[in-house]
Amino acid sequence: MADPCEYLNLLSLPYQIILYMEYLHSSLRYLILVFLVGSIFISFTKWRGNKPFTKGDKMTYLMTLIFCHVQLIVGLILFIMKDYQKNFSQMGTIMKVPVLRFFTIEHTLMMLLAIIFIYWLFNC
Ligand code: HEM
Repeated sequence: MADPCEYLNLLSLPYQIILYMEYLHSSLRYLILVFLVGSIFISFTKWRGNKPFTKGDKMTYLMTLIFCHVQLIVGLILFIMKDYQKNFSQMGTIMKVPVLRFFTIEHTLMMLLAIIFIYWLFNC
C-alpha cells in the first residue's frame, strides 16, 4: 500500500508553509478581536468623557492596525498558495459550492472591506 504521507505530500515544504500560515491566520483573529474591542472601548469612553487621547490609546490603535495588516498579508499568501485564484476562471461552478464560494469570494471580499474600514477608523 502506498505511504499516505507520500501520497498526500504532507511533508513537502509548501504544505508545511501552508499549515503554519493557517495556524497563524487562525490565531491572529483573536488578537485582532481583543485589540479591536479595546480600541472601540477607548474611543467610546474618550468621546463620552470628552478626554484627550494618551500615548497608550494610540498604541492600542496602532497594534490593531498592525495585526490587521499582518492578517491581510498572511491571508493573501494563503489565497495564492492554496491556488484560490484558479477558481476565478470557473465562477459558475464555484458559486454552487458553499465552501469554495465562501473562501474565494465572501471571506476575502468582506475581510478586505473590514480591514479598509478599520484602517479608516483607527489611523491617527
Ligand atoms: C481580519 C481579517 C481576517 C480574519 C479575522 C480572517 C479569519 C480567517 C479564519 C478564522 C480562517 C479559517 C482558518 C482555519 O481554517 O483554521 C481563515 C481562512 C482563510 N482566509 Fe482569512 N481572515 C481574514 C482576512 C483574510 C484576507 C484579507 C484574505 C485574502 C486576501 C484571507 C484569506 C483566507 C484564506 C485563503 C483562508 C484559508 C481557507 C482554506 O482553509 O482553504 N483572509 N481566515
